[in-house]
Amino acid sequence: MAEETPVEELSAEEAAAELARLAAEIARADRAYHLEDAPEISDAEYDRLKRRNAEIEARFPDLKRADSPGERVGARPSETFAKVRHAVRMLSLENAFERAEVAEFDARIRRYLNLGAEAPLNFTAEPKIDGLSLSIRYEGGRLVQAATRGDGAEGEDVTRNVRTIGEIPGRLEGAPDILEVRGEVYMGHDDFAALNARQEAAGAKRFANPRNAAAGSLRQLDPEVTRARPLRFFAYGWGALSAPLGDTQMAALERLGALGFPVNPLTRLCDGLDEMLAHYAQIEQQRATLGYDIDGVVYKVNDLGLQERLGYRSTTPRWALAHKFPAELAWTLLEAIDIQVGRTGALSPVARLTPVTVGGVVVSNATLHNEDYIAGRDSKGDPIRGGKDIRVGDWVQVYRAGDVIPKVADVDLSRRPDDATPYEFPKTCPACGSDAIREEGDSVRRCTGGLICPAQAIEKLKHFVSRGAFDIEGLGAKQVEQFYLLSWIREPADIFTLRDRDAAGEKALLEPDEVLDRLEGEESGEARARLAAALGLETFERDSVAERFAERSRTPLARHLGWGEKSAANLFEAIDERRSIPLERLIFALGIRHVGETAAQLLARHYGTWENFIAAMEPAAAEEGSAWNDLLSIDGVGPVLARSLVKSLTQPAERASVDRLAACLTVEEAEPPATSDSPVAGKTVVFTGTLEKMTRAEAKARAESLGAKVSGSVSPKTDLLVAGPGAGSKAKKAAELGVETIDEDGWLKLIGAG
Ligand code: IVH
Repeated sequence: MAEETPVEELSAEEAAAELARLAAEIARADRAYHLEDAPEISDAEYDRLKRRNAEIEARFPDLKRADSPGERVGARPSETFAKVRHAVRMLSLENAFERAEVAEFDARIRRYLNLGAEAPLNFTAEPKIDGLSLSIRYEGGRLVQAATRGDGAEGEDVTRNVRTIGEIPGRLEGAPDILEVRGEVYMGHDDFAALNARQEAAGAKRFANPRNAAAGSLRQLDPEVTRARPLRFFAYGWGALSAPLGDTQMAALERLGALGFPVNPLTRLCDGLDEMLAHYAQIEQQRATLGYDIDGVVYKVNDLGLQERLGYRSTTPRWALAHKFPAELAWTLLEAIDIQVGRTGALSPVARLTPVTVGGVVVSNATLHNEDYIAGRDSKGDPIRGGKDIRVGDWVQVYRAGDVIPKVADVDLSRRPDDATPYEFPKTCPACGSDAIREEGDSVRRCTGGLICPAQAIEKLKHFVSRGAFDIEGLGAKQVEQFYLLSWIREPADIFTLRDRDAAGEKALLEPDEVLDRLEGEESGEARARLAAALGLETFERDSVAERFAERSRTPLARHLGWGEKSAANLFEAIDERRSIPLERLIFALGIRHVGETAAQLLARHYGTWENFIAAMEPAAAEEGSAWNDLLSIDGVGPVLARSLVKSLTQPAERASVDRLAACLTVEEAEPPATSDSPVAGKTVVFTGTLEKMTRAEAKARAESLGAKVSGSVSPKTDLLVAGPGAGSKAKKAAELGVETIDEDGWLKLIGAG
């Protein structure tokens, strides 16, 4: 390659000629790349061209071409990241803090696999890196895609940024044709300090800790910014694979190392609990000198065959455990106690603290759990913290473990001011004034305002648009709150009538004048500021707002929010995309107490359609009869969940709101379990007697993963009884009912495992 003239020495003429050459060259490389031909130039060379182009453009902004490679579609930084569905879900880890929990992990696995206490069972132990997880897909040895974890099922496409990370190979030699490498992106302590110094010098915001810096750097719309941030990577696992990497976790990691991925050098193979705990202690000792943040040690069953048998719970593998380091502590002043009202009406006390650094993170809010906790009692009325209560003005100890919400753990009575008074927990809702009551056996006081409580309504809406629920692009927690404050959206159904109401102009829920009146009428400064912010205003002046509202060229919604028509159109489009929604997402989105994502999925699979589901609620409300029994027959649905579900969907006002919503939607039928072609899918199976090849727990999990329903007792609904030696009354009953009965070998053969 000919010597390149340094950018500072280029004449304008030379610069123009070079920009033209670079535009052509980069366009050719893009074409070659995107058509999936073998690219003509390396990733590094491609990036060098892009960088030089950017440098020349920076020095000669006037010469920037209309077809500048920095601006082109496909190469241009997009406004948001595209979504990527993970071929294999990205899960999280179960946490443990105590030795006893690690012992229980080992014991549980032994029980599950029916291994004796003395049988060999090896684990790998490696540091838990405090960064963010990444999945990098290689096809034919070429890096084709990189994605963040996101919600585990769907992440963000950060391919272009990941290509700038030096520690991640762009090409692999001798790798399986399809290989998804998973690991942690992080930033080292020195690089973090240097980055913050640069940020400060540039008047930009400092990052709170290396993890945030790494996340912020990876999620840059402009890959050139990512390139300038020294991100690093450790591989610790894999997703989709066309050929196994090895028989054991350790061998697979070694293979990843041989392919060119950094693998943490503190990874050890441990034979049993004592070695695991010893290695944990050793890593903990080295923690401060590693040069990067870790927050614990991860243990994984080494034998990949056993990993496969152990399988997964809904969000975590049974074969791995994160043994976290003890939480970090700090003392600070409790300035105030605020009450937040949640979506189900729970009143949660929040401590407002003089900001303090706890384990590298600045903490200014912490949870105080509930009124008993503040008073120094547990849920049974027994003293905690030696019965010390917590008062505003106290010095309190703040505790932070990993990424969980910080808690107030203790109080220093020797520093309590003389005039501090016991905290009185409110008996009415601070948001709507309704009574807040505590039901028998509930540790939480709840607002009884239901739909009239603005705090509950806003929290419900936030939940409704959250990730696992409707997840509407451009309508996040902040936006629904704005829309609520301006009365555009008061309940979920309003989201779907937004476009029509806006088009109809005068039909807005709240007229501009009313908004202005409200703004002026707001007594609380905070409420006023929030309302003004919802209007996109820094300060509130009636005249200028009135002028904006009076403008005829925009529709009311755009005028209200100070938006362009284009933004409004984009939002309507994103909303339209969600008019058709899977049943489980809809059920989850309703935000009913005790009905999380897993329960919503169980309910959806059981009822299949929205009509079936909703029709079952009224008859189930009696808590007896077939509808109620049917609901309780769902494995994973107990009376507490069922009661909460039925109560909320038969409460007239709430039900009317749900019906208004459903009328706006096309609800997609629940997908049958992915394994519907298995011979036991949809069948009700009962296990009895002794199983010899696997434990009851494993047999049950396996059957369920194949789409079967496992029940504990034989009834006319039973399709199949698997009877081992010693089977008694159940086998007899099955015979009476004419239920097909097979032995364990027959079962294994049936499911293709024999
Ligand atoms: S294994 C199927 N190993 O911790 C589970 N995770 O709290 C795959 N993490 O999402 C995770 N270091 O981002 C694993 N050595 C390590 C890890 C590690 C950090 C992160 C990872 C995961 C999170 C769960």
